[in-house]
Amino acid sequence: MLYIGIDLGTSAVKLLLMDASGAVLNTVSKEYPLYFPHPGWSEQNPEDWRRAVLEGIPELVAGFDAAQVAGIGAGGQMHGLVALDSDDNVIRPAILWNDGRTGAEVDYLNNAVGKNKLSAWTANIAFAGFTAPKLLWMRANEPENFAQIAKIMLPKDYINYVLTGVHCCDYSDASGMLLLDVEHKCWSKEMLDLCGVTEAQMPRLFESYECVGTLKPDIAAQLGLSPNVKVCAGAGDNAAAAVGTGTVGDGACNISLGTSGTIFISSDSFGVDPNNALHAFAHADGHYHLMGCMLSAASCNKWLMEDIFKTTDYGAEQSPITDDKLGENHVYFLPYLMGERSPINDTNARGTLVGMTMDTTRSDITQAVLEGVAFAIRDSLEVARSLGLEIKRSMLCGGGAKSPLWRKIMANVLNVELTLPVSEQGPGMGGAMLAMVCCGEYASVREVCEKLIKVSETISPDPELSAKYNARYEAFKRIYPALRGVFPLLG
Ligand code: XUL
Repeated sequence: MLYIGIDLGTSAVKLLLMDASGAVLNTVSKEYPLYFPHPGWSEQNPEDWRRAVLEGIPELVAGFDAAQVAGIGAGGQMHGLVALDSDDNVIRPAILWNDGRTGAEVDYLNNAVGKNKLSAWTANIAFAGFTAPKLLWMRANEPENFAQIAKIMLPKDYINYVLTGVHCCDYSDASGMLLLDVEHKCWSKEMLDLCGVTEAQMPRLFESYECVGTLKPDIAAQLGLSPNVKVCAGAGDNAAAAVGTGTVGDGACNISLGTSGTIFISSDSFGVDPNNALHAFAHADGHYHLMGCMLSAASCNKWLMEDIFKTTDYGAEQSPITDDKLGENHVYFLPYLMGERSPINDTNARGTLVGMTMDTTRSDITQAVLEGVAFAIRDSLEVARSLGLEIKRSMLCGGGAKSPLWRKIMANVLNVELTLPVSEQGPGMGGAMLAMVCCGEYASVREVCEKLIKVSETISPDPELSAKYNARYEAFKRIYPALRGVFPLLG
């Protein structure tokens, strides 16, 4: 049988067609616009996602035996608020995971309601990108829109709704709403009350690999697929990417260098970071994970290359950064181009280059950006280490992992052995694997990971270079605290 994986990302939807042995038979990518209507705001039109998926799937299966497609699974950008009215029409553009408009609401939640209560109710505290503060923002700033809300969903849930007509959400993605009692896997009555919504407005909850329904007949006809195709609940993109790299079970780690940068540590049992710097979320395998998420990772490099240097030849920009330059750069970059989530939780933080001199070159700046992202991931890794989690090795995925230079920098800044999967298909692959479990092709998420995930290269840290980067990290760590009070004054 064949399976379709959907990766509903921030810049594009990436679709893949996979057989039960994990072979990727075809991929299709469709871009859509991202809007920044005010500084720090970030929105997308769910209609653009819908069009991209419905146009992309027929292209994906063209030339294959569509009758063989048994299941569909999606991994989607997390936290985005999609609000539907009573006719299931989208009320306003979705407010995305990297939107920073809710500074005041986050402040209210963390300080007036209090972090202890939030953490007891949901296992997490408020971050600007999370869904609950966005509901509070909408209630205060767009009361006429708020009054129309009949259903709240997350981005990939809207696609699942389009495909099946079912209002659903899985536990991994629901964890990032700050409305779920993560430990007990049910909506938090306290949080729903606080946000002025009821359980009837929330989607039905499922495990990621559970079937939410089959394709609606009209959609099946439009896609050229059977109406018996099963759609599983899918997962937040990080949980789906973790499945796609085999990161399941106790203490496994996956680092993703995508638009966002994440460090994802899976666990068989529920646990909360007492500092609440790492998110405590459900995993797509039915268990749990801790995660640190930085808002701008590979997007910092893309910004520097394409918007500032006006080039798409990333390799040419990186080629002057030879081995002897690593660990020697005295230019530092704070990668806070969209403010920052983990671990500093500061919407006012800004991207910053420090330490330039008259001999600073273009490639020193490129190097500083790659290193700055690695140092910022290390900030979250250090929180995990402070909890007693020993992380000696990790999988590495995401667009940034394609650069051998960035891989080397990451391994040495983190002092962690990094392994690449043979097939780097990210959340789409995890989505297809979840669909396989949903359709009974494999008995569990763990089994499909054991059978399908193969690894290729491993990058080991070099003790000398790691020691150099340790010293540089000590300097990096002091830059943000020194500037924290300045950022709000920058306007
Ligand atoms: C995770 C997060 C991002 C988005 C990116 O908490 O906000 O990784 O899911 O799509």
